[in-house]
Amino acid sequence: MKKITALLSLFLTLNFTAFSVEGMWIPSLIDMFHSDMKTMGLKLSAEQIYSTNNSSLKDAIIQFNGGCTGEIVSDQGLLLTNHHCGFDAIQKHSSLENDYLKNGFWAKSKSEELACPWLRVTFVKEIRDVTELVFKGITAETSPAERAKIIQKNISALESAEEKTASITAKIKPFNLENQYFMLITEDYNDIRLVGAPPSAIGKYGGDTDNWVWPRHTGDFSVFRIYANNNESAAYDKANTPYKPAHSLPISCKPKKEGDFTMVYGFPGSTDQHYSSGKLQWIIEKERPARIDMRQHSLDVIKPAMNADDLTRIQYASKQARIANAWKKWIGQIGGLKELGAIEKKKEWEEEYMAKAGEQSEWKAKYYNVIGDLNELQAQGGKFEFARSMFIEYFYVGPEFIRHAFGYYNLVYNYEKLETEGKVEEEINKLIKGSESFFKNYNKAVDQAIYNELTPLYCDYVETDLLPLGLAESWERDGEAIFEKSVILDPEGIKSTLSKFSAKSAKKMKNDPALKFALSVYQTFVNKVNSGYQAFAAKEEKLMQTYVEGILVMFPDKKNWADANSTMRITYGKIEGSSPYDGMKYTHYTTIDGIMQKHDESNPDFQLTSRFEELYKKKDFGDYTQDGDLWVCFTASNHTTGGNSGSPVIDAEGNLSGINFDRSWESTMSDFMFDSRRCRNIAVDIRYVLWVIDKYGEAPHLVEEMNIIK
Ligand code: ARG
Ligand code: GLU
Repeated sequence: MKKITALLSLFLTLNFTAFSVEGMWIPSLIDMFHSDMKTMGLKLSAEQIYSTNNSSLKDAIIQFNGGCTGEIVSDQGLLLTNHHCGFDAIQKHSSLENDYLKNGFWAKSKSEELACPWLRVTFVKEIRDVTELVFKGITAETSPAERAKIIQKNISALESAEEKTASITAKIKPFNLENQYFMLITEDYNDIRLVGAPPSAIGKYGGDTDNWVWPRHTGDFSVFRIYANNNESAAYDKANTPYKPAHSLPISCKPKKEGDFTMVYGFPGSTDQHYSSGKLQWIIEKERPARIDMRQHSLDVIKPAMNADDLTRIQYASKQARIANAWKKWIGQIGGLKELGAIEKKKEWEEEYMAKAGEQSEWKAKYYNVIGDLNELQAQGGKFEFARSMFIEYFYVGPEFIRHAFGYYNLVYNYEKLETEGKVEEEINKLIKGSESFFKNYNKAVDQAIYNELTPLYCDYVETDLLPLGLAESWERDGEAIFEKSVILDPEGIKSTLSKFSAKSAKKMKNDPALKFALSVYQTFVNKVNSGYQAFAAKEEKLMQTYVEGILVMFPDKKNWADANSTMRITYGKIEGSSPYDGMKYTHYTTIDGIMQKHDESNPDFQLTSRFEELYKKKDFGDYTQDGDLWVCFTASNHTTGGNSGSPVIDAEGNLSGINFDRSWESTMSDFMFDSRRCRNIAVDIRYVLWVIDKYGEAPHLVEEMNIIK
């Protein structure tokens, strides 16, 4: 009996851990993880997933404008990504008459597709391990300075040896904390056109309330098309024709079930799995809480102001979303790390690492002390790193006038130089434009309230010797002068000042209180904080490199994966719900009924269009349902992060089954530590996407372009 129970529990744990898999894998190293994916249900060969000889899945995946991911879904270059990734483009094409954000947009034919010449998409042609070549000439005796020089030289030589064109780039990037290097051959396409977008009431349904949260009901997708000249990359030209890709993803409308294999193929931005226990503790206990607090104070000003006034609501919508996105993620992250006892877990691992290092004298000499050194460095240098984080929050995310006023530095302080170079006019025109777009979305009273909240907080958090001299005493007086007297913050005043700017104006503006304040904040950072931080960061980089080298050398059987660095990766898992807390169980999918349950016209996050309600009432779901339900979103156990937005969720046969757009709140900790019980990515079901395009958008011609698998 005992034996059976033991076997049974072994079976259960095996079965359980087989579900979700930590790691973001480099596609060209597919042989390392292909058999694992096969075990989990994948039906494709390695060659079908990544190949440089034949077309493969890789050829249908693009980096969207340097940040998000997208996938090609027709042989005419049709491309899907998230609504929040296409948001900027949709907004740029929107006006009061054509409010595509509010109403959505559907090109009825190719001639109606809207040019977005500021967008680019990037294909990956090849990923090549060049570690040995980059380290060529380095021996155990090479000094660190010499080593860095050799690496730089080798990288330049290797990069210039590659064939490049105006659109094809060859770049070598470090992986695994500079223990590995890969050459990335990529190609950009620049004629991208907007084809379709649902209204925000679908594409952003749930808004900030539901952001990072499961259960989710967001139709977070938008549609673009790549154009080319003779299928070659080209700048926008009306005469360009749709790009014919080497591969496009077929689309699966088949029923799904929990346990189905999933693979997410895309461009995750950054993760920090190797932080030491000291660093993690510093993040959890000091850095993140302070940053969250700063943002909380801003949001407490912005939100009521937005609710009280329509203009302010529009002006601050996108700023608020940006501030709130990281704010909410961080709260989830530190909550998860605490609940999981992440620091203790790290410490246990560090014991194991050191014990291993103790096994061989060579290892002991190299690796035994590195963890202690890292933790000690954090204890000493963390002061500068913390002041830097707070500076980022204050200067870049805090009161907006500071950054804006800082923009006048060049004109005011380099006036003579600009004049000899004949560049004054150019600089003034830039500032006039900048000023106009600044005031379009600026409310002085709101900014002043943010200043009044954040400045004393900034003074409290940062050690006095790393702050502008006397700031804690003078900030109230400074604030009054800034908001009453600064010409930079007076739309008419600055216009007229700029229109007749002279050397005398430059001299006078040196006394502008906003510019003076911005300069003192910035210069204090440069002079007192940044040098200390740079020295700390250089030491940390070296130690981290040694530490990770130790993992690779001493634990070769551990499934080591390189932290995300905005390069192409594959992560695999299964469709899976979760049970993040005792007594709580999340299902793995949501349906359109849930949209109606959340519907609340008094809350902007949960408003619907009347057209949507009509279609729902008619139950006109076409053949996009499963057992009568129209699925909206689903969760899977893929290890993803920021940058994976828009990534295809691909099934065992290589078909597109959903578009990734978020993670659940409990799982945002996976940037530092992955937990298979709770880490889930969130995707919009491709059948919902098709339903919205076909029935809501009345653009069935787009669905007809795709290869639908039923
Ligand atoms: N949390 C997702 C991401 O990190 C979606 C953000 C966009 N949505 C929003 N409601 N702000 O990017
Ligand atoms: N929404 C994120 C993005 O824009 C993806 C969510 C995540 O961090 O996993 O990339």
